[in-house]
Amino acid sequence: MDKYIIEGQRPLTGEVYISGSKNAALAIIPAALLIEGKCRIEDVPDIGDVRILDEILTYLGAKVSYTDDRNTIEIDSSCLNNWAAPYEMAKKLRASYYLLGGLLGRFGRAEVSFPGGCDFGSRPIDQHIKGLEALGVKIEIEHGIIKAEAKKLVGCKIYLDVVSVGATINLMLAAVRAEGTTIIENAAKEPHIVDVANFLNAMGANVKGAGTDIIRVMGVSTLRGGATHAIIPDQIEAGTFMIAAAATDGDIVVRNIIPKHMEPLTAKLLEMNIEVRQNGDWIRVISHGGIQKANIKTLPYPGYPTDLHPPAAVLLCRAAGTSMITETIYDNRFHYVDELQRMGAGIRVDGRVAVIEGASELTGAPIKAHDLRAGAALVIAGLIARGTTEVHNIGYIDRGYENLDVKLRSLGASITRVSDDC
Ligand code: UD1
Repeated sequence: MDKYIIEGQRPLTGEVYISGSKNAALAIIPAALLIEGKCRIEDVPDIGDVRILDEILTYLGAKVSYTDDRNTIEIDSSCLNNWAAPYEMAKKLRASYYLLGGLLGRFGRAEVSFPGGCDFGSRPIDQHIKGLEALGVKIEIEHGIIKAEAKKLVGCKIYLDVVSVGATINLMLAAVRAEGTTIIENAAKEPHIVDVANFLNAMGANVKGAGTDIIRVMGVSTLRGGATHAIIPDQIEAGTFMIAAAATDGDIVVRNIIPKHMEPLTAKLLEMNIEVRQNGDWIRVISHGGIQKANIKTLPYPGYPTDLHPPAAVLLCRAAGTSMITETIYDNRFHYVDELQRMGAGIRVDGRVAVIEGASELTGAPIKAHDLRAGAALVIAGLIARGTTEVHNIGYIDRGYENLDVKLRSLGASITRVSDDC
């Protein structure tokens, strides 16, 4: 993997354009398998996870083509001839579980490895399996492969025991062509769930209630090709830049966003004494110094997103006073803390709570990304640290951020990507 070399303590200034949502793209691309035809998806982020999905779709027989900037993708699923995703590819992605919903909806059969992705402790998929079984799918798990088969998918009522983004979307995908109506209760409400539902409806599906905790999917016998859909902006990428601007005492305009999706973060930045202005499709973040402590608890949307927990921890290292971050979604999302401690951060972890002693000056050090969002947090730490920081394992960051270093350089950061052999 490559590494980033960052010279810190330069305030970010200027404008940055946010890419399409990673988590929406990772669901919408497998959703394209449901149609025997073509669709066009715009504002696809050019990131590692999308490239892996592209390889899987191609292996399954779909034709995938891109525009030159790789942000618009055309998928022709009419020649799809395989329902078994190759283990070596699928295991790299958390979102490979969406292939189950997409392939079941298309063929009534699917074989997909247990999902991979970032390690935050235990990440079960029991709610996906419970919901698929309720729809009439027989599931067997052998050698790390989920083998799913349904003679017929039949609509039903499913109550999710935990609010799960992945299970909500997967069940929507599987239910689109089921016979009758499926009701998903205690559904997740993240913005990209609405985006996936809009894409499915553009193909002729009948999904209502996405964005609330009860989603109704009225099964349809066929879907039509020819749909064009533009993916919503990435709420987590936008949040990462907003936090980076605040942490570096910067002043940036974040363009191509939906300010409503940013409210959980905006509220916290205001509480920390950071100025936030917004309008239409942009947000301006201005830090005048004097960052105040804050307590954060991660929650399903519209609560504070768990994916913006590690970047917020870095920002709170600069705040006056002691702050706390309580992680309620994952058992263990604190691998980044050891790395920040190398840079002089005063953070202790007790169970699911990080206690952050603010106003500590971070100093540059060699550090290692252990997962995607932790990687982004370490880059922000490098931006505020005195001296040089080397962030290793940036392949994790490439999985979910499009040109992070290029965008940061355009805001005045000193960040260089080099081969880790150097
Ligand atoms: C998605 C996002 C990820 C984000 C997370 C929470 C994608 C590709 N990834 O992950 O970036 O951090 O939402 O916003 O969109 N759970 C169960 N059983 C299940 C499913 C989930 O117990 O069957 C638990 C998980 O362990 C976790 C919680 O539910 O504690 C939320 O997980 P979920 O919303 O499913 O996250 P993902 O879809 O994996």
